[in-house]
Amino acid sequence: MASDGPDKTEFLCRLGHEMKTVIASLSGALEVLRGRYRNKLGSVEKALFDVSEKDAMRLAKLANNLLDFAHKPTGAPPPVKSRRVVLKNSLDTSLAMLKYAFRERDMSSLEISLPRGLAVRADPEQLVQIFTNLIENAVKYTPPDRKIGVFAKRERSNVLVCVWDEGIGISAQNRRKIFKRFYRVNPAGSKGSGIGLSVVKWIIERQGGKIWVESRLGKGSKFYFTLTGEKKWRKS
Ligand SMILES: Nc1ncnc2c1ncn2[C@@H]1O[C@H](COP(=O)(O)OP(=O)(O)OP(=O)(O)O)[C@@H](O)[C@H]1O
Ligand SMILES: [Mg+2]
Repeated sequence: MASDGPDKTEFLCRLGHEMKTVIASLSGALEVLRGRYRNKLGSVEKALFDVSEKDAMRLAKLANNLLDFAHKPTGAPPPVKSRRVVLKNSLDTSLAMLKYAFRERDMSSLEISLPRGLAVRADPEQLVQIFTNLIENAVKYTPPDRKIGVFAKRERSNVLVCVWDEGIGISAQNRRKIFKRFYRVNPAGSKGSGIGLSVVKWIIERQGGKIWVESRLGKGSKFYFTLTGEKKWRKS
């Protein structure tokens, strides 16, 4: 990608935006249809709705990742539109999107522990994307009967966030590789393109934060990241 010229970058960006618009309209239409025929759907129709909504969500995530990915190699990323964002609001937006993707898991059963009103300085859309990519992973790599959760706390002038799960875990050797583009530990085991974490890392580092993982194979994983807290922002 290092030799990608502006034409290719622009094409990818346009494609990403166009995809997002089309997917938003498709998702909206599906939601209206499901609501209108709620009481008339048989099991086959319900399953078809589930698949369509899941795929629309996957496409939306791909489009977002594509947009960030397209900007990445040019050295001229889109400006970070940082403002005060309440973490809980971004998390709720992300969970609302994910509930269609993971009907088999009750997203309201997530163990969430966020201090009331805790806010960071971040780009709101990108914060949603961070949560979406990390929680999607947590769900994807954790059996439905095991727990997943999110916690956050103030740490000096920063905020520390953790998305954790009791899933399959990641070996020490693989922990070093999973933030690289396209790397997947077990490509045959689940669907995915192996770019979610690389985009999350890039977004966080661009906003001045850090991301790392602690994990035990078979026991679960904890993805930690830091962002600038609002106090530091107010001082600067
Ligand atoms: N919570 C987790 N538990 C166990 N393994 C994980 C977890 N999160 C990520 N991984 C491993 O890291 C790899 C890279 O994750 P990443 O999110 O970048 O890609 P993906 O989930 O495979 O695809 P996508 O681009 O659709 O997100 C995954 O394929 C998986 O092997
Ligand atoms: Mg992923």
